[in-house]
Amino acid sequence: VNHLLGIKYITKEDVELIFKTADHFKEVINRPIKKVPSLRDITIANLFFENSTRTRLSFELAEKRLSADVVNFSAASSSVKKGETLIDTVNNILSMKVDMVVIRHPNPGAGVFLSQHVDASIINAGDGAHEHPTQALLDSYSIREKLGEVKGKNVVIVGDILHSRVALSNIFALKLQGANVKICGPKTLLPKHIESLGVEVETDLRKALEWCDVANMLRVQNERMEISYFPSTREYVQQFGLNKKILDSLSKEITIMHPGPINRGVEITSDVADSEHAIILDQVENGVAVRMAVIYLLASKIKQ
Ligand code: CP
Repeated sequence: VNHLLGIKYITKEDVELIFKTADHFKEVINRPIKKVPSLRDITIANLFFENSTRTRLSFELAEKRLSADVVNFSAASSSVKKGETLIDTVNNILSMKVDMVVIRHPNPGAGVFLSQHVDASIINAGDGAHEHPTQALLDSYSIREKLGEVKGKNVVIVGDILHSRVALSNIFALKLQGANVKICGPKTLLPKHIESLGVEVETDLRKALEWCDVANMLRVQNERMEISYFPSTREYVQQFGLNKKILDSLSKEITIMHPGPINRGVEITSDVADSEHAIILDQVENGVAVRMAVIYLLASKIKQ
């Protein structure tokens, strides 16, 4: 397949190949000259219909470090505002000889829909509350880097699981690689039937942290909520906020992750986010190498 639409659609072998390729690119981007000429003949369009800091810059840097030509599109300043459809927008961009499209969109399934209607390789950079596959790949890559392997590790994902594409893609990726996964958060922010994906539910943060090797702390996504969910921010902080006092009271050291953006003082305090236990900026650094690997491997198929 010439797309990365979700972790749901890839195999353990695909993940292993992406990580092996990312190992090479991580070494490359730490050289004085951070570029390789591999994709001089490829043009990539980054289409962002939703806000982004990390994913957008990370994709652009990954593409430039592979020597691809890059065009960036932001819906807010585009003719989408004049009523142009997604397919018309993308087909117009593709007629300028674009080979690959990176898309972030608020609607779940936007990447899959596009892959069925346009002639280009599609990478999903986040589709609503559905999937964020490159985030999950860089998260697993960072666990592998920190702890040696993902297999057999206990990972808890804490927070607003219901609205989180990061949670769903991480669950697929972690299970694929043989990790044990729990989710933890207020019952109102946990999806029903999530156990069918092979994860356990724990609503007591302390118990979840005592069990885990890695805690992935997620933001409460107020922008995806049409109604106000219980609990209030104050209650959320009391029951699910990770602070130094809780971390120091655990019987073992754990690794702290966060996909960003952080709401400091809500899901995590600054002293934890900035501590030696946190690998949050390593995740961001690894994002470039992992995205280089994904783009490089998909582009190899275009060239065949
Ligand atoms: N982690 C992540 O997707 O961050 P952005 O929304 O800033 O891209």
